[in-house]
Amino acid sequence: MKSMRLRCKFLLGTLFLLLSFFAGGAYAQQKVIKILAIGNSFSQDAVEQYLHDLADAEGIPVIIGDMFIGGCSLERHVKNARNNDPAYAYRKIGLDGKKVEQKNVTLEIALADEDWDYVSLQQASSFSGMFETYEASLPELVKYVKARLPNKTELMLHQTWAYAANATNSGFKNYGRDQLMMYHSIVDAVKKASTLSKIKMIIPTGTAIQNARTSFIGDHMNRDGYHLDLKIGRYTAACTWFEKIFERNVIGNPYYPKGMNYDQREVAQKAAHEAVRHPNRITELTELKTPAARVNYDESKVPDYTLPDVLTLGNGKKVTTAKEWLKKRRPELIHLFETQMYGKAPAHPKDLHFRVLTEDKNALNGLATRKEVAIYLTKDEKYFITVLIYLPNQRQGAVPLFFGINFKGNHAIHPDEGITLPSEEKLAAYGRKRMFPRGNAASRWPVEMLMEHGYGLATFYRGDIDPDFDDAFRNGVHPLFYKKGQTRPAEDEWGTLAAWAWGMSCTMDYFETDKDIDAKRVAILGHSRLGKTTLWAGAIDPRFALVISNNSGCGGAALSRRKVGETVRAVNRQFTHWFCRNFWQYNDKEEKLPIDQHELIALIAPRPVYIASAEEDRWADPKGEFLSGLYASPVYELFGLPGLPVKEMPIVNQPVLSGTIGYHIRSGQHDINLYDWTQYVKFADKHLKKDK
Ligand code: GCU
Repeated sequence: MKSMRLRCKFLLGTLFLLLSFFAGGAYAQQKVIKILAIGNSFSQDAVEQYLHDLADAEGIPVIIGDMFIGGCSLERHVKNARNNDPAYAYRKIGLDGKKVEQKNVTLEIALADEDWDYVSLQQASSFSGMFETYEASLPELVKYVKARLPNKTELMLHQTWAYAANATNSGFKNYGRDQLMMYHSIVDAVKKASTLSKIKMIIPTGTAIQNARTSFIGDHMNRDGYHLDLKIGRYTAACTWFEKIFERNVIGNPYYPKGMNYDQREVAQKAAHEAVRHPNRITELTELKTPAARVNYDESKVPDYTLPDVLTLGNGKKVTTAKEWLKKRRPELIHLFETQMYGKAPAHPKDLHFRVLTEDKNALNGLATRKEVAIYLTKDEKYFITVLIYLPNQRQGAVPLFFGINFKGNHAIHPDEGITLPSEEKLAAYGRKRMFPRGNAASRWPVEMLMEHGYGLATFYRGDIDPDFDDAFRNGVHPLFYKKGQTRPAEDEWGTLAAWAWGMSCTMDYFETDKDIDAKRVAILGHSRLGKTTLWAGAIDPRFALVISNNSGCGGAALSRRKVGETVRAVNRQFTHWFCRNFWQYNDKEEKLPIDQHELIALIAPRPVYIASAEEDRWADPKGEFLSGLYASPVYELFGLPGLPVKEMPIVNQPVLSGTIGYHIRSGQHDINLYDWTQYVKFADKHLKKDK
């Protein structure tokens, strides 16, 4: 009997997997997370709009249901359950993000509609701070839903929010028309309800809304005194659900609704994040009491600024020869960037060693050889980078290589089934429950095109060096190098960008041992935060023959002093782990920086460098990216090379490929696409294949 049941379960499981495979499309490899709210207009505010998009932005496939009756209390849900009353509007957001509403649905039907992973219950807002109302109805409702759900389903209590102080809703009088009294009553009642019902998981939306009210937004989180504001209110609630359920820091999640600005996004994400950390108390969002200085995109409002002169030494003397540059000015600048901005990285590990893990000489239908190589950072082989390498099979001798870190995992750069998926241990190390689907980032990696042009391609996932979130440097490579008693990098020691750059440099040690790769012709490239990383990697490791920055913006190619788009304060505030702590001294004080980004470009001289912008990527300040190339040019001239051979910014889609510094501004958004790569290949052909 038991074994039959098991077999049945197994068959059903397989069928389910197959079905979800076909239903899932792009997400086929991923487990779909299914969430059902049994609520009212407050659950509508929280789950029906932005939760799906937030999950989507992190590659998490979700199905969301909401059983809706306006103002529905626990008592009424119980009555509906008893009578099997088709009283609900059942809204369901499918994998594709589309919402479908079905009228006249019973609880029974909705509970059986999916094998829900999470089901939430909540009280109607006016009673939400009155424990006796939970006592009266919650146990029966819990019993009812549990009987209709699989064992795995996690029940949750939705902690709803207190009304705006000026709310006119009559239920407000239950709390003496006092917002804080209402808030604290909700926290207490939900806590007690959790003990009563043994539902451990509480979604602290009420606390998130209260946190956000301490910011510059103030008491404007509602649209009518009690429902949430359509943008920031609902988005804050969705952020809270996101972080609580998926256990992923929502700060930095790239999705936010149109019509909201960057400061509001920051408040919502921070308010939600703090609420998940401290669900039962208010966290004052002190640094968000005032909005950041308005983002400037207006050329006429760029402040007057004087850039540090790239050829003048700290002692005031001017550098006039390439030799002096290399001997004196270059080390001086490296030191400044290291101690004031990216942070000092340690020497390569003495136990650095490599092993080819897989090799397929017939990959991509015979076009390429695919290898996966472990770059072990420690003797015990616990810490390693997995480098994915494609080499064109049509090659004579060692090939030149493009090399860049990827955002989403090696398996995401191409649908090639032969790419190894990250192991469970790796997922745990990345702090992720699941990864992006295979091939999800394929538009950014034109593997076949590179093979056809005779280039190899190598890449590794950023999380192999340091997962991209702030955990106070507990995960990733940093702790491997702590001195005794050290718990985080010192003020002038490496942040995450410097660690990624260091990982690239360690990987170069491997390329030097691979006879199929011409280590003298390695072009490195990176997009956005990885473009910042790549410029720094190119600056510190002169073995990289060519350096490409794609839309790297603030902290990358863009001049900091222009303060257009993202500023030093903005980047440090949002990505607290990227730079070293010393860099924070320059928040809103860019003019005090002893360096600017044209000097970062100059550090690559005399090697060729390419800077690319995108027209709509104003956050990255395209003009500032162009100017840093222009102002780095005097250093190239010391070597008798043309730097950037134009003085004015070229028009859109007119690449400048003739100098040692290349530049283009492409039409379209912040991204890296085939247009960008096409220019990089032309530029590389010119510089890396000239003697061939
Ligand atoms: C954010 C950040 C940028 C960064 C970008 C990215 O927009 O503000 O500095 O370049 O993310 O890496 O995609």
